[in-house]
Amino acid sequence: MNLYIGDRMDIKNLSKQELAELIEDNANGLDPHIGSLALREKEKYYQNRIFARGLIEFTNICKNNCYYCGIRGENKNIHRYRLNKEQILSCCKVGSELGFSTFVLQGGEDLYFTDEKMCDIIYSIKSHYPDCAITLSIGEKTKKTYQAYKNAGADRYLLRHETANEKHYGMLHPHDMSLENRKRCLYDLMEIGFETGAGFMVGSPYQTYENLAEDLLFLKELKPHMVGIGPFLPHHDTPFKDFKNGSFELTITMLALTRLMLGDVLLPATTALATLKPDIGRTKAFLVGANVVMPNLTLSEYRDDYLLYDNKLSSGNEAAQSIKNLEKEIMKSGNILDMSRGNNVRLKNL
Ligand code: 5AD
Repeated sequence: MNLYIGDRMDIKNLSKQELAELIEDNANGLDPHIGSLALREKEKYYQNRIFARGLIEFTNICKNNCYYCGIRGENKNIHRYRLNKEQILSCCKVGSELGFSTFVLQGGEDLYFTDEKMCDIIYSIKSHYPDCAITLSIGEKTKKTYQAYKNAGADRYLLRHETANEKHYGMLHPHDMSLENRKRCLYDLMEIGFETGAGFMVGSPYQTYENLAEDLLFLKELKPHMVGIGPFLPHHDTPFKDFKNGSFELTITMLALTRLMLGDVLLPATTALATLKPDIGRTKAFLVGANVVMPNLTLSEYRDDYLLYDNKLSSGNEAAQSIKNLEKEIMKSGNILDMSRGNNVRLKNL
């Protein structure tokens, strides 16, 4: 198929089959024309700004057993940790001194963090740093719990849908998890008024081009403010240890197509992508419309314990402490580092 995306054809109108063919045609390398359209789309909304978020991985304890994830509950070979409120606040202090104004609290589904404890943490961060944005990434909760987080001061929530195909979801997760509940969570978050992030892995086991097309169609329907996309990378202590990693080229293609599908979306150049290609991963992502980086602010003694996949980067330009170096890398790509809250532009028009 020779789909001409751009002046004549709008990606938003393609069928699942057409999208799957478009993805397949660009699986081994993105058509430069599509890449430049994606970049132009990003610049329309965000010019050449790349937003930075400080990532705090505050617990690697998880009740879930996702087959791909290194911190799955049944993995007995990792050192488990959780940070207390004071430790989390000290990460924020370091981040604030480095110039960050948004903090992402990411963790496993750790039942120790009751609503009361989470709300106290959120409230405390907001009291110390009233102008910052707080993003949570702590999994599936009830709508009531999400609302409590929002009332305590949380602004954003990241919850990747992982795959929008029911059958494929079932191949990546045990039976006690469902795509239906994932989607319910995402719609609840949108309704409550969170800046919401969805997302998926590229090249996860059993994934087809049609599945990736379904991811794009689901994103079109949900209209999230952010989308996290990274290659699947195997972890040696998971059931998926023998699968090969997702392709770099296909990840770049999915970033570009997601930008074209959603226009104003915030799109990180993910750690997984940088892990796969530490030298050019981020830069290539910026060139097709990625506009967010999430350097790691976790206390350094715990960074190696938050291993979702093998060789996960948490040093070099993935470390918040290297923000000046990261800024140089960003400038080399023709962009500028923006340390402001970096809201989705859609919010200005509310
Ligand atoms: N490879 C790539 N990404 C992974 N994640 C979890 N495990 C892996 C892996 N092995 C991603 C999931 C999750 C996010 C926090 O990290 O998409 O939502």
